[in-house]
Amino acid sequence: MSLNTNPLETSFALLRDYENEFTTCFYSTLFSDYPQVKPLFKAVRMDEQAKKLFASLVLVVNNLTKPDVLTNALKGLGTRHVKYGVLPEHYPMVGATLLKAMSITLKDNWTPDIEEAWAGAYSAITEIMLEGTEYPEEILSPDRQSTPLSV
Ligand code: HEM
Repeated sequence: MSLNTNPLETSFALLRDYENEFTTCFYSTLFSDYPQVKPLFKAVRMDEQAKKLFASLVLVVNNLTKPDVLTNALKGLGTRHVKYGVLPEHYPMVGATLLKAMSITLKDNWTPDIEEAWAGAYSAITEIMLEGTEYPEEILSPDRQSTPLSV
């Protein structure tokens, strides 16, 4: 995985000073923009969850130059998310929310360069997490299911 690391590292260094503000903003935005994912978190302690989410972002940013470490950790994370009831369609929702919460938290420090770097990083993260999963074909490509079978 080749990523544009500099904007990721510099923006994340700023974000670390506002961890609580960022995670609070992330979950409130996620649940207001995408209320359909709320039930997935019903048995989850949100204060602990926020710390885990932030720790996983720390892991990603700290290992940008170590693709093997990153790939192993993210595949495992993807596998566990299947058990949490997470579907592939939920990943873009979390991605959009992540960028929105970062832009709200970083205010003027959020630049188009940084946005592009995080959008690229999130799609790479999603791809690797989904490599750790085995969703049935109809979940990965729902459109194909609506095609009537020829008789
Ligand atoms: C970049 C993508 C994501 C990252 C880095 C991430 C990170 C994490 C981490 C570190 C945990 C703690 C548990 C563990 O390590 O297995 C977790 C749990 C969880 N994540 Fe994610 N996640 C991502 C995407 C998603 C998506 C797309 C959803 C769906 C809305 C989601 C929903 C959940 C839920 C419901 C739990 C709690 C599971 C439980 O304790 O019952 N995550 N996530």
